Amino acid sequence: MRITVNRNADTPIYLQIKNQLRDMIFSGVLPVDFLLPPERSLARELGVNRSTVIKAYQELKADGLADSHVGKGTVVLPQTARVPAAADRYINPLPWYQLFTESITASHDTIISDIMARTGRDVISFAGGIPAPGLYPVAVLEEIQAELFRTAGQELFLHSPVEGCYPLRESIVQLLRQRQIAAAAKDIVVLSGSQQGLDFAARIFIRPGDTVIVEEPTFFGAIQIFRSAGARVIGVPIDKDGLRTDVLEALLVRHKPKFIYTLPTFQNPSGISLSLQRRYELLDLAYQHQLPILEDDPYGELYYDTTPVPSLKALDRHGYVIYLSTFSKALFLGLRVGWVTAPPQVLAKFAHLKQMTDLHVNTPAQLLLDAFIRRGHYERHVARLRQEYAGRRNAMLKALDKYKVPGIGWNKPAGGYYIWCRLPDNIVRHKLVANAAKRGVVFLPGEAFYPDGTQGDTHIRLNYTFAEPEQIDNGIKYLLQAVKETTCANYEEECQHALKPLV
Ligand SMILES: Cc1ncc(COP(=O)(O)O)c(C=O)c1O
Repeated sequence: MRITVNRNADTPIYLQIKNQLRDMIFSGVLPVDFLLPPERSLARELGVNRSTVIKAYQELKADGLADSHVGKGTVVLPQTARVPAAADRYINPLPWYQLFTESITASHDTIISDIMARTGRDVISFAGGIPAPGLYPVAVLEEIQAELFRTAGQELFLHSPVEGCYPLRESIVQLLRQRQIAAAAKDIVVLSGSQQGLDFAARIFIRPGDTVIVEEPTFFGAIQIFRSAGARVIGVPIDKDGLRTDVLEALLVRHKPKFIYTLPTFQNPSGISLSLQRRYELLDLAYQHQLPILEDDPYGELYYDTTPVPSLKALDRHGYVIYLSTFSKALFLGLRVGWVTAPPQVLAKFAHLKQMTDLHVNTPAQLLLDAFIRRGHYERHVARLRQEYAGRRNAMLKALDKYKVPGIGWNKPAGGYYIWCRLPDNIVRHKLVANAAKRGVVFLPGEAFYPDGTQGDTHIRLNYTFAEPEQIDNGIKYLLQAVKETTCANYEEECQHALKPLV
């Protein structure tokens, strides 16, 4: 009987012994009535304590694999299961990649997560869409959490309704009122972030081959989700007033899309907002073409100059808009709380998917958030963010101006998280990420935000909320040095070289 013990393994030694004996019993190597070695001698042979072998035998007995009788020792019991001895045959490794669906294989692109993962003291990150860590309202949350754990009782530890805790839905109703959206608690389903809302929308509406219209550029997470549901994702260009409604009309006639996904306020990645005039035009087109609108609004309350125009949901008179929002951008990403409000027929489908997927958002997070909003902390916190982020945006705009290089351009976003920066024409684009990273600066290249992945290399997205204000100036300086280093006089030659097919 060959038993090996690995002292460096995570599995406890008694379990290693038990598991090997179990396999030998099931494979018939140890037949019925086989007398296992006395505990003391096996322990000596393996160089372990006798108590370890005793424990292994106890486990075997508990599993009905062996029995011991005084004076007879421990013997193997008859088993109904028979497992072929794996050791005797060559077992092929599982071909995991052949088992994956086409959609999951096609949508697996790690470039964004790779860039975002580049963090650390010596990296200045303009890449993520992350709130300023120094502004998390830790002290207040700590206080509320301690109080909740003292006073909330069982409620805190039990399931909450699939649609979300009622008090939180009431608090969300108040937030929506400030955004001019009329809704009642029954009109809201709380979600694990608005990302889950995008996933559910895809599952509710998209059949493989359906078309979905998005702005171009748009949030890369949405492109990934719609595409993995089998959609053809078609982009509509934007200009300084947002989505080009004149271009949209022709696309609606031609493609008969299932819905349009739009970020009308402080768009990710461009920071641009859809003008009021275009909002009305978009709604009108939707009504004419019976087109549902999926409005994603994570940034709307983070305005820095004047209050933004009303959301599409606030302007919608015929129940065409499904509205998603989140606490990720005003509080913190790890909270994973967002919500959807939509016409009742649609909302019921969101609730059904929530129940099938993960039942509900975790109860303590919901109650914590509700108390935070009810006590006025949320409103104060957002007001503080508006001030702070306006300062960071201005710092980035100032630095861009101070260190600008020929051919570079940018917009001044009135809110949100991002500046969309146009690169000089003669830049060797495939080298910019690496050159900037060498100087300790990361950002997101524009291609990720386009459905066909080939456009957008004329731009990069710069986030200004995460880096400390004093890092922003240096970060932009290093980034623009990298841009300068990556622009080349003999551009044609370089680019032709870059595009040469590999044969
Ligand atoms: C436009 C947009 N929608 C959705 C999300 C996902 O947010 P959440 O953290 O709520 O899932 C993000 C996050 O960056 C976003 O920018």
